[in-house]
Amino acid sequence: MRIAVAGATGHIGALTVSALEGRGHDAVRISRSLGVDLLTGEGLDDALRGVEAVVDGTNVAATNRDEAVASFGTMTRNLLASEQRAGVRHHVLLSIVGLDRVEGNAHYAGKREQERLVAGGPVPWTIVPATQFHDFAAMVVSWAEKDGAATIAPLLVQPIAPQDVADILAEVAEGEPQGRYADVAGPEPQDLVDMARRTNEVRGRAVRLVPSWSGLFGPSMAGDVMLPGEGARIGPTSFDEWLAAGAR
Ligand SMILES: NC(=O)c1ccc[n+]([C@@H]2O[C@H](COP(=O)([O-])OP(=O)(O)OC[C@H]3O[C@@H](n4cnc5c(N)ncnc54)[C@H](OP(=O)(O)O)[C@@H]3O)[C@@H](O)[C@H]2O)c1
Repeated sequence: MRIAVAGATGHIGALTVSALEGRGHDAVRISRSLGVDLLTGEGLDDALRGVEAVVDGTNVAATNRDEAVASFGTMTRNLLASEQRAGVRHHVLLSIVGLDRVEGNAHYAGKREQERLVAGGPVPWTIVPATQFHDFAAMVVSWAEKDGAATIAPLLVQPIAPQDVADILAEVAEGEPQGRYADVAGPEPQDLVDMARRTNEVRGRAVRLVPSWSGLFGPSMAGDVMLPGEGARIGPTSFDEWLAAGAR
Protein backbone atom coordinates (compact mmCIF):
# COMPACT_ATOMS: atom_id res chain seq x y z
CA MET A 1 0.00 0.00 0.00
CA ARG A 2 0.97 3.63 -0.39
CA ILE A 3 0.76 5.09 3.13
CA ALA A 4 1.73 8.63 4.14
CA VAL A 5 3.20 9.53 7.52
CA ALA A 6 2.64 13.12 8.64
CA GLY A 7 5.46 14.03 11.02
CA ALA A 8 7.77 11.59 9.25
CA THR A 9 10.95 13.22 10.55
CA GLY A 10 9.74 13.08 14.17
CA HIS A 11 10.42 10.55 16.88
CA ILE A 12 7.46 8.24 16.22
CA GLY A 13 7.01 9.27 12.61
CA ALA A 14 10.48 8.11 11.55
CA LEU A 15 10.01 4.77 13.31
CA THR A 16 6.59 4.41 11.66
CA VAL A 17 8.07 5.01 8.21
CA SER A 18 10.62 2.23 8.86
CA ALA A 19 7.92 -0.07 10.24
CA LEU A 20 5.75 0.49 7.14
CA GLU A 21 8.66 -0.09 4.78
CA GLY A 22 9.58 -3.23 6.73
CA ARG A 23 6.06 -4.49 6.06
CA GLY A 24 6.50 -3.90 2.32
CA HIS A 25 4.59 -0.62 2.00
CA ASP A 26 5.50 2.49 0.04
CA ALA A 27 5.81 5.21 2.72
CA VAL A 28 5.30 8.86 1.77
CA ARG A 29 7.09 11.21 4.19
CA ILE A 30 5.46 14.48 5.19
CA SER A 31 7.03 17.27 7.28
CA ARG A 32 7.96 20.94 6.86
CA SER A 33 11.64 20.09 6.47
CA LEU A 34 10.61 17.84 3.56
CA GLY A 35 8.64 20.67 1.91
CA VAL A 36 5.12 19.92 3.12
CA ASP A 37 3.53 22.24 5.69
CA LEU A 38 0.26 21.19 7.31
CA LEU A 39 -0.29 24.69 8.72
CA THR A 40 -0.41 26.29 5.26
CA GLY A 41 -1.24 23.22 3.18
CA GLU A 42 1.85 23.82 1.02
CA GLY A 43 2.85 20.67 -0.90
CA LEU A 44 0.13 18.56 0.71
CA ASP A 45 -2.10 17.72 -2.27
CA ASP A 46 0.94 16.60 -4.29
CA ALA A 47 2.21 14.46 -1.40
CA LEU A 48 -1.12 12.66 -0.95
CA ARG A 49 -1.62 11.72 -4.61
CA GLY A 50 -2.30 7.97 -4.79
CA VAL A 51 -2.14 7.57 -1.00
CA GLU A 52 -4.55 5.05 0.57
CA ALA A 53 -3.94 5.70 4.27
CA VAL A 54 -2.36 8.45 6.38
CA VAL A 55 -0.79 8.16 9.83
CA ASP A 56 -0.72 11.48 11.71
CA GLY A 57 2.27 11.56 14.07
CA THR A 58 2.78 15.32 14.01
CA ASN A 59 3.47 17.42 17.05
CA VAL A 60 3.15 21.07 17.98
CA ALA A 61 5.38 23.03 20.36
CA ALA A 62 2.71 25.33 21.82
CA THR A 63 3.18 27.36 24.98
CA ASN A 64 -0.49 27.90 25.75
CA ARG A 65 -3.86 26.29 25.27
CA ASP A 66 -5.20 28.59 22.52
CA GLU A 67 -2.04 28.16 20.48
CA ALA A 68 -2.11 24.36 20.86
CA VAL A 69 -5.78 24.13 19.86
CA ALA A 70 -5.29 26.50 16.91
CA SER A 71 -2.18 24.74 15.59
CA PHE A 72 -3.37 21.15 15.99
CA GLY A 73 -6.77 22.24 14.65
CA THR A 74 -5.44 23.94 11.51
CA MET A 75 -3.03 21.11 10.73
CA THR A 76 -5.74 18.47 11.15
CA ARG A 77 -8.30 20.39 9.07
CA ASN A 78 -5.82 20.89 6.23
CA LEU A 79 -4.75 17.25 6.34
CA LEU A 80 -8.30 15.86 6.34
CA ALA A 81 -9.45 18.18 3.53
CA SER A 82 -6.51 17.17 1.37
CA GLU A 83 -7.11 13.50 2.16
CA GLN A 84 -10.71 13.88 1.06
CA ARG A 85 -9.61 15.42 -2.25
CA ALA A 86 -7.10 12.60 -2.77
CA GLY A 87 -9.58 9.84 -1.94
CA VAL A 88 -7.62 8.61 1.09
CA ARG A 89 -9.72 5.96 2.81
CA HIS A 90 -8.15 5.68 6.26
CA HIS A 91 -6.84 8.37 8.63
CA VAL A 92 -4.90 7.06 11.64
CA LEU A 93 -4.30 9.50 14.50
CA LEU A 94 -1.75 8.87 17.24
CA SER A 95 -3.30 10.25 20.42
CA ILE A 96 -2.80 10.01 24.19
CA VAL A 97 -4.49 7.82 26.83
CA GLY A 98 -6.56 9.76 29.38
CA LEU A 99 -7.00 13.00 27.41
CA ASP A 100 -10.53 13.56 28.72
CA ARG A 101 -9.43 13.09 32.32
CA VAL A 102 -6.86 15.91 32.32
CA GLU A 103 -7.78 19.61 32.38
CA GLY A 104 -5.42 22.55 32.21
CA ASN A 105 -2.72 21.03 30.00
CA ALA A 106 -2.26 22.92 26.72
CA HIS A 107 -0.94 19.96 24.74
CA TYR A 108 -3.85 17.79 25.86
CA ALA A 109 -6.34 20.48 24.81
CA GLY A 110 -4.73 20.48 21.36
CA LYS A 111 -4.88 16.68 21.15
CA ARG A 112 -8.59 16.74 22.12
CA GLU A 113 -9.20 19.17 19.25
CA GLN A 114 -7.38 16.80 16.87
CA GLU A 115 -9.53 13.87 18.05
CA ARG A 116 -12.74 15.92 17.72
CA LEU A 117 -11.95 16.93 14.13
CA VAL A 118 -10.91 13.41 13.09
CA ALA A 119 -13.97 11.74 14.66
CA GLY A 120 -16.31 14.27 13.00
CA GLY A 121 -14.33 14.48 9.79
CA PRO A 122 -14.82 13.28 6.22
CA VAL A 123 -12.28 10.43 6.18
CA PRO A 124 -12.87 7.02 7.87
CA TRP A 125 -10.58 6.91 10.88
CA THR A 126 -8.84 5.06 13.66
CA ILE A 127 -7.68 6.95 16.77
CA VAL A 128 -4.88 5.12 18.62
CA PRO A 129 -4.50 6.43 22.19
CA ALA A 130 -1.02 5.59 23.52
CA THR A 131 0.45 6.01 26.98
CA GLN A 132 3.69 7.92 27.51
CA PHE A 133 6.74 6.63 25.67
CA HIS A 134 9.73 5.12 27.49
CA ASP A 135 11.75 8.29 26.83
CA PHE A 136 9.00 10.58 28.19
CA ALA A 137 10.60 11.05 31.64
CA ALA A 138 13.90 12.17 30.10
CA MET A 139 12.03 14.55 27.81
CA VAL A 140 10.17 16.11 30.76
CA VAL A 141 13.50 16.58 32.58
CA SER A 142 15.00 18.27 29.52
CA TRP A 143 12.07 20.75 29.45
CA ALA A 144 12.40 21.60 33.15
CA GLU A 145 16.17 21.45 33.67
CA LYS A 146 17.75 24.60 35.07
CA ASP A 147 21.12 24.93 36.81
CA GLY A 148 21.54 21.15 37.09
CA ALA A 149 18.12 20.52 38.67
CA ALA A 150 14.66 19.68 37.30
CA THR A 151 11.23 19.48 38.88
CA ILE A 152 9.25 16.44 37.79
CA ALA A 153 5.81 15.20 38.83
CA PRO A 154 5.66 11.73 40.42
CA LEU A 155 3.17 10.57 37.79
CA LEU A 156 2.01 6.97 37.65
CA VAL A 157 2.34 5.91 33.99
CA GLN A 158 2.49 2.65 32.04
CA PRO A 159 5.03 3.58 29.37
CA ILE A 160 5.48 1.95 25.98
CA ALA A 161 8.51 1.59 23.73
CA PRO A 162 8.45 4.05 20.77
CA GLN A 163 9.21 1.15 18.41
CA ASP A 164 6.17 -0.77 19.70
CA VAL A 165 3.94 2.28 19.09
CA ALA A 166 5.30 2.57 15.54
CA ASP A 167 4.73 -1.12 14.85
CA ILE A 168 1.11 -0.87 16.03
CA LEU A 169 0.49 2.28 13.93
CA ALA A 170 1.85 0.53 10.84
CA GLU A 171 -0.36 -2.50 11.47
CA VAL A 172 -3.44 -0.34 12.05
CA ALA A 173 -2.77 1.77 8.94
CA GLU A 174 -2.74 -1.23 6.62
CA GLY A 175 -6.09 -2.45 8.01
CA GLU A 176 -9.64 -1.15 7.92
CA PRO A 177 -10.72 1.95 9.88
CA GLN A 178 -11.69 0.91 13.43
CA GLY A 179 -12.90 4.11 15.11
CA ARG A 180 -11.49 4.37 18.61
CA TYR A 181 -8.78 1.74 19.05
CA ALA A 182 -7.96 0.13 22.42
CA ASP A 183 -5.57 2.03 24.66
CA VAL A 184 -2.00 1.11 23.74
CA ALA A 185 0.45 0.75 26.65
CA GLY A 186 3.60 -0.96 27.83
CA PRO A 187 3.74 -3.98 30.10
CA GLU A 188 4.24 -2.35 33.55
CA PRO A 189 3.34 0.76 35.53
CA GLN A 190 6.23 3.06 36.48
CA ASP A 191 6.83 6.16 38.59
CA LEU A 192 7.96 9.03 36.34
CA VAL A 193 10.61 10.26 38.81
CA ASP A 194 12.15 6.79 39.01
CA MET A 195 12.04 6.51 35.20
CA ALA A 196 13.87 9.84 34.89
CA ARG A 197 16.53 8.85 37.43
CA ARG A 198 17.18 5.50 35.74
CA THR A 199 17.23 6.96 32.22
CA ASN A 200 19.71 9.65 33.29
CA GLU A 201 21.94 6.97 34.83
CA VAL A 202 22.00 4.98 31.59
CA ARG A 203 22.59 8.13 29.52
CA GLY A 204 25.30 9.36 31.95
CA ARG A 205 23.43 12.59 32.75
CA ALA A 206 23.67 14.18 36.21
CA VAL A 207 20.49 16.14 36.99
CA ARG A 208 19.08 16.63 40.49
CA LEU A 209 15.42 15.63 40.38
CA VAL A 210 12.88 17.47 42.52
CA PRO A 211 9.50 15.69 42.72
CA SER A 212 6.75 18.31 42.45
CA TRP A 213 3.15 18.82 41.35
CA SER A 214 3.71 22.53 40.81
CA GLY A 215 5.48 22.25 37.44
CA LEU A 216 4.08 21.28 34.05
CA PHE A 217 1.94 18.44 35.40
CA GLY A 218 -0.46 19.15 38.26
CA PRO A 219 -2.44 16.99 40.67
CA SER A 220 -5.22 16.44 38.07
CA MET A 221 -2.82 13.90 36.53
CA ALA A 222 -2.22 11.99 39.79
CA GLY A 223 -3.57 8.55 40.69
CA ASP A 224 -4.72 6.21 37.91
CA VAL A 225 -5.55 9.02 35.45
CA MET A 226 -2.74 8.26 33.01
CA LEU A 227 -3.07 4.47 33.10
CA PRO A 228 -4.61 2.47 30.24
CA GLY A 229 -8.20 1.24 30.47
CA GLU A 230 -9.59 -2.30 30.35
CA GLY A 231 -8.66 -4.36 27.31
CA ALA A 232 -5.55 -2.34 26.50
CA ARG A 233 -3.18 -3.59 23.84
CA ILE A 234 0.18 -4.16 25.52
CA GLY A 235 3.41 -3.53 23.61
CA PRO A 236 6.01 -6.20 24.40
CA THR A 237 9.08 -4.11 25.33
CA SER A 238 9.39 -3.32 29.06
CA PHE A 239 11.00 -0.13 30.36
CA ASP A 240 13.85 -2.25 31.80
CA GLU A 241 14.49 -3.83 28.39
CA TRP A 242 14.49 -0.41 26.76
CA LEU A 243 17.02 0.86 29.35
CA ALA A 244 19.18 -2.23 28.88
CA ALA A 245 19.20 -1.58 25.13
CA GLY A 246 20.68 1.90 25.72
CA ALA A 247 17.58 4.08 26.36
CA ARG A 248 17.37 5.25 22.73
N1 LIG B 1 5.87 11.60 23.95
C1 LIG B 1 4.93 10.81 24.45
O1 LIG B 1 5.12 10.19 25.52
C2 LIG B 1 3.62 10.62 23.70
C3 LIG B 1 2.67 9.69 24.17
C4 LIG B 1 1.50 9.49 23.44
C5 LIG B 1 1.26 10.23 22.28
N2 LIG B 1 2.20 11.15 21.88
C6 LIG B 1 1.92 11.91 20.63
O2 LIG B 1 2.82 11.51 19.63
C7 LIG B 1 2.84 12.53 18.61
C8 LIG B 1 4.22 12.58 18.00
O3 LIG B 1 5.18 12.92 18.98
P1 LIG B 1 6.74 12.91 18.64
O4 LIG B 1 7.47 13.11 19.92
O5 LIG B 1 7.06 11.74 17.78
O6 LIG B 1 6.85 14.26 17.77
P2 LIG B 1 8.16 14.99 17.24
O7 LIG B 1 9.36 14.15 17.39
O8 LIG B 1 8.17 16.36 17.88
O9 LIG B 1 7.87 15.14 15.67
C9 LIG B 1 6.90 16.00 15.20
C10 LIG B 1 6.82 15.87 13.69
O10 LIG B 1 5.78 16.74 13.20
C11 LIG B 1 6.28 17.47 12.11
N3 LIG B 1 5.55 18.73 11.99
C12 LIG B 1 5.38 19.67 12.94
N4 LIG B 1 4.69 20.71 12.45
C13 LIG B 1 4.41 20.40 11.16
C14 LIG B 1 3.73 21.07 10.11
N5 LIG B 1 3.20 22.31 10.27
N6 LIG B 1 3.63 20.47 8.90
C15 LIG B 1 4.18 19.24 8.70
N7 LIG B 1 4.83 18.55 9.65
C16 LIG B 1 4.95 19.13 10.87
C17 LIG B 1 7.76 17.65 12.42
O11 LIG B 1 8.55 17.90 11.28
P3 LIG B 1 8.97 19.41 10.83
O12 LIG B 1 9.40 20.14 12.05
O13 LIG B 1 10.05 19.19 9.80
O14 LIG B 1 7.75 19.97 10.22
C18 LIG B 1 8.09 16.26 12.96
O15 LIG B 1 8.31 15.37 11.88
C19 LIG B 1 2.38 13.82 19.31
O16 LIG B 1 1.18 14.26 18.73
C20 LIG B 1 2.16 13.42 20.76
O17 LIG B 1 1.01 14.01 21.35
C21 LIG B 1 3.36 11.36 22.54
